[in-house]
Amino acid sequence: MIKHKKEFSRRVKTYEQHAIIQKQIAFELTSLIENLKFNTVVDLGAGSGEIYKHLKTKPSLFIAIDLSEKMCEIHPKEPNIELFNIDFESSELDNILNRQKVDLIISSSSLQWCNDLDKFFEKISHSSSVFAFSIFTANTFKTIFSTTNLEPIIYKKELLIEKLNRYFNVQTLFTKEYKLNFYDKLELFRHIKLTGVSGGEKRLDFKQTKELIQNYPLDFLEFEALFCVATTKNLS
Ligand SMILES: C[S@@+](CC[C@H](N)C(=O)[O-])C[C@H]1O[C@@H](n2cnc3c(N)ncnc32)[C@H](O)[C@@H]1O
Repeated sequence: MIKHKKEFSRRVKTYEQHAIIQKQIAFELTSLIENLKFNTVVDLGAGSGEIYKHLKTKPSLFIAIDLSEKMCEIHPKEPNIELFNIDFESSELDNILNRQKVDLIISSSSLQWCNDLDKFFEKISHSSSVFAFSIFTANTFKTIFSTTNLEPIIYKKELLIEKLNRYFNVQTLFTKEYKLNFYDKLELFRHIKLTGVSGGEKRLDFKQTKELIQNYPLDFLEFEALFCVATTKNLS
């Protein structure tokens, strides 16, 4: 099983309570497209439905896709919503995208888990008129990485920008930094676990974790998200 699938399923209840930054990012992403009208929307890594909840004008068809069965269970259920418990990197997404005209493909805080971003962007670039997403960059938890000398496992913003320009006509592109404050360090590190943002990847042993908690110099966690609204090169 893909590690982060297990992690998101396990953390589903606590994700809902603790994913403050992800909820803020989903809100900011939907504000970027709020003046546009879409009939059919596909949400990749839809989770508990933050995107759907924030869309001011609900589309006639909203297709929510998520790898975690538990996340699908807590997504809003309405007559205009179709839910698919599938991997957005699988060929099942192709079938969905080929079935009807999709006006908007949207994704918030989920694509950092994409294993083959080139293949994925290539696929999306053939399929939709508008692609709007937010993605965590390698600057997320940057002081944790510099304190432990570990390399971030998610994409650097420079690489993301290079790939986006290869496949899309980029209309909006910016990064934004966030800080989440904590009263104590244990609570800070618990947050990482509770929101599943580490993807379930355990890279430190007990001694290293203890050292990190002792040596981490901040009382906040750092996040950086890249926001993008793009159209495909084929269509514009
Ligand atoms: C951080 S949550 C974001 C959820 C929601 N978009 C939001 O903004 O709150 C990431 C979601 O992506 C899903 N996910 C991760 N990799 C996926 C994949 N390859 N295919 C489908 N869903 C995936 C996870 O199960 C999880 O629900």
